[in-house]
Amino acid sequence: MSETPYKPQGITGGLTNYGDPEFARYLRRSFAKSMGYTGAALDKPIVGICYTESGFNNCHRHFPEMLEAVKRGVLASGALPVPFPVISLGEVFLSPTSMVYRNLMAMAVEEMIRAQPMDSVVLMGGCDKTVPALLMGAASANKPAVMLVAGPMMTGRHKGERLGACTDCRRFWGQYRAGKVERQEIDQIEGRLATTAGTCAVMGTASTMALISETLGMALPGSAAIPAVHADRLRASEESGELAAKLAIEGGPTPDKLITKQSVENALRVLLAVSGSTNAVIHLAAVAGRLGIDIDYDQFNTLSDETPVLVDLKPVGKGYMEDFNAAGALEGVLRGLAPQLDRTTLDVTGQTMGERLDRPLADPIDHTVIRPADDPIDPEGGLIALRGSLAPEGAILKRAAATPDLLEHEGIAVVFSSLDDLSQRIDDPDLPVTADSVLVLQNAGPRSPSGMPEAGYLPIPKKLAQQGVKDMVRISDARMSGTAFGTIVLHVAPEADVGGPLALVRDGDRIRLSAKDKSIDLLVDEAELERRRAEFTPSEGEWDRGYRMLYRDRVMASPTGCDFDFLRGSGTGKAT
Ligand code: FES
Repeated sequence: MSETPYKPQGITGGLTNYGDPEFARYLRRSFAKSMGYTGAALDKPIVGICYTESGFNNCHRHFPEMLEAVKRGVLASGALPVPFPVISLGEVFLSPTSMVYRNLMAMAVEEMIRAQPMDSVVLMGGCDKTVPALLMGAASANKPAVMLVAGPMMTGRHKGERLGACTDCRRFWGQYRAGKVERQEIDQIEGRLATTAGTCAVMGTASTMALISETLGMALPGSAAIPAVHADRLRASEESGELAAKLAIEGGPTPDKLITKQSVENALRVLLAVSGSTNAVIHLAAVAGRLGIDIDYDQFNTLSDETPVLVDLKPVGKGYMEDFNAAGALEGVLRGLAPQLDRTTLDVTGQTMGERLDRPLADPIDHTVIRPADDPIDPEGGLIALRGSLAPEGAILKRAAATPDLLEHEGIAVVFSSLDDLSQRIDDPDLPVTADSVLVLQNAGPRSPSGMPEAGYLPIPKKLAQQGVKDMVRISDARMSGTAFGTIVLHVAPEADVGGPLALVRDGDRIRLSAKDKSIDLLVDEAELERRRAEFTPSEGEWDRGYRMLYRDRVMASPTGCDFDFLRGSGTGKAT
């Protein structure tokens, strides 16, 4: 028996329920015609364009131009483009942190793709949380989807030096705190750090997630790193529209055919090889989790030990994303990792990773920016997971961004019980702290009132910064910006707010970090910990209504991507 050929549903897909489908079809077409569409236009397959332009999102300010290019590609390929809004998350405009709203955006994306009549969708995003939210929602909705990212900003200039948000924001702010840069100059630099549209100019979270999207197969090959303002970005937008029209007409491949255990492993290797953002470990776990795929920290460490660092970009190295794009972009990294990659994974164009790797290169790779595997920057991956008595369920350390001498370190804890406590006391001249101390921040994890902000990059106490101290071991259940650097242990799980061992640390305790053993330990005897545990009280629920209450009640721990428990899995809606 022959299979019924796939037929797009177009404007009459998923009808509004009036108890009379014929009437619902008639009414929908009638209202669609009020927007000026002809009957012939409404007979075409529909490509939804999930659109995230916002006055509160500087990284997406060029989206109107990209949108026109996407529409052009869709129309030229015989489908009807229909943009629709979902919430947008501009990283620096959200309080307490954009992380809290990633799941809200993912829910909006999933439901709007599912509820509205579209045969495929272009996902337009870029700023940190928007890409994971779009991928999470699209994975659960499981309609054919093409991720189209904003692309990175170009660098600015200051006194002959290149500047890129946001690694250089932190570098200059550190110098200002240490008294090496005057107020007038820091104000001048403020206008030179982020000068074009696009996402942060370094290998931060946005760029890392863009590369992960392409490696997962969800984006047009070659599109992840094109600068936001480059004409190639518009060409990639047009091609993404064409591709989405093809997917709408053919009915696939759907995200579940692309995001698989194998493509997630390829994405983890890319994350490690580019020394990508620590945030990407959380986001990739959340995306994979939507399709029931777990990221196991032991497997992560095995991959880290065998995957070389190939890319020399800030915040860890020297270059910026524009250099990476010119040097060969993701293609250059994939060629370097080729023997370690799974060749069977598929991408949105229908090609396998093996077919992609076997194509002749259009341009030679610039090995000063993207090294070959036999001459890596580091033979081991940039990130590792730690376990131990301080983090029984794990923690993450970006070893590539750490000071080598601090990777094996034992020191005395100086504890801050919250972000407020940190901001009040970190610069106190009487704070009992030395360069060998270990700074500990509690109650900044996913369930805490602060919502897991990018506060893991604890500032160096002013009195030490002024003595020239640039790095110290810092530990928290918070996250860190992908553009930051230092010997910083993040995502400690279980978090302090649920009574994890991090909550039990007190000033003066000894803590040992060993990157070699991949361990983080609180050197306090069990009887004393038991006594402290008995005194533990969870924080009072400040978030007692609406979405924030839902967040606090249902967010999972960082190793499972801080997704909601009821959104994990195959979209059946059953809590796990
Ligand atoms: Fe949008 Fe950095 S602020 S990517």
